[in-house]
Amino acid sequence: MKRVFSGIQPSGEIHIGNYLGAIKNWIALGERLGKDAIFAIVDYHAITQAYDPALLARRTFEAALANIAAGLDPERVILFVQSQVPEHTELAWVFTTQTPVGDLTRMTQYKDKAARQSFVGAGLLMYPVLQAADILLYKADTVPVGEDQLQHIELTREIARRFNARFGATFPEPQAQLNKDAPRVPGIDGKAKMSKSVGNTIGILEAPDAIWEKLRTAPTDPARVRRSDPGEPTRCLIWRYHTYFSPAPLVREVIEPECRRAGIGCVECKRMLFDSMMKELGPIQERAAELRARPERVSEALEAGREQAAAIAEPVMEEVREKIGLLRPGARPWKPAG
Ligand code: TYM
Repeated sequence: MKRVFSGIQPSGEIHIGNYLGAIKNWIALGERLGKDAIFAIVDYHAITQAYDPALLARRTFEAALANIAAGLDPERVILFVQSQVPEHTELAWVFTTQTPVGDLTRMTQYKDKAARQSFVGAGLLMYPVLQAADILLYKADTVPVGEDQLQHIELTREIARRFNARFGATFPEPQAQLNKDAPRVPGIDGKAKMSKSVGNTIGILEAPDAIWEKLRTAPTDPARVRRSDPGEPTRCLIWRYHTYFSPAPLVREVIEPECRRAGIGCVECKRMLFDSMMKELGPIQERAAELRARPERVSEALEAGREQAAAIAEPVMEEVREKIGLLRPGARPWKPAG
């Protein structure tokens, strides 16, 4: 592993699915790789769906702030805003010319999203091409993501392979890296994957009483109707969340056996989960409050990140322009005769 790239959309609050599935992994990789760990707030992805232009800048800023509060250190890694490095969209255009439309209409995220809306912009179809450009612009070989992104990373590999075959070896074929403990965090409804578009999220910066209210009313093992009924933890959403937030010995030695013998009730179990969650989210929320009071720390970090990202992206894009045969400024396509 030499270089890592990943991104997050500023399309709503950052939730514990993003945090457990991706951001925690980003923080660990950043500690190992420093400036070869590159993370973007991908605002050009967020505008492929209905959005409010009056809120986009704020959401982009908030997403950066939440990542920093969660522990991503912008002095150590590169953290920047996608649209501020225009080579992303430039490379995406080049890749659209090398990507079969059929590969794009097959993407499950495209099919799901397209089925849910009446206006389907071409950007929604091209979305994975822009994602491939994000990754390959930095020649990243590793992409830490949740399971829902695997298909897009596979397409990125195909795009790299096709480009290399046509224009000469240029890009690595990147590998996805899942957080094996939480590749697909379920939503608080206990049904779908946690997702902004479904509205079943717990925000990492959500107020503690709002988080408690969501936990209090969340479904548990359906077979456990009365307090005295024994439960089966592996069928319970709350148990799954305990595995993310509570110490393993507490889960193994208390939560699981006490649930099975009806030694603790679901409300008590939820309270223990709430305590574990707030132990992790509390300090993040405190750091977020500090950053809100000093927003220049976020804007300065993003400005430094933009410069660092551009310094990598610009020469790679120039290499692409030359390889695909564009006339470069001031250049002559033939040598003068004689
Ligand atoms: P986005 O913004 O939907 O999500 C950001 C990251 O969070 C992960 N994630 C989850 N992981 C586990 N369980 C969940 N319930 C869950 N929900 C979200 C996502 O897998 C993702 O890693 N297309 C991407 C953004 C993107 C990108 C990129 C990612 C744009 N360019 C280049 C990697 C590389 C997306 O919509 O992520």
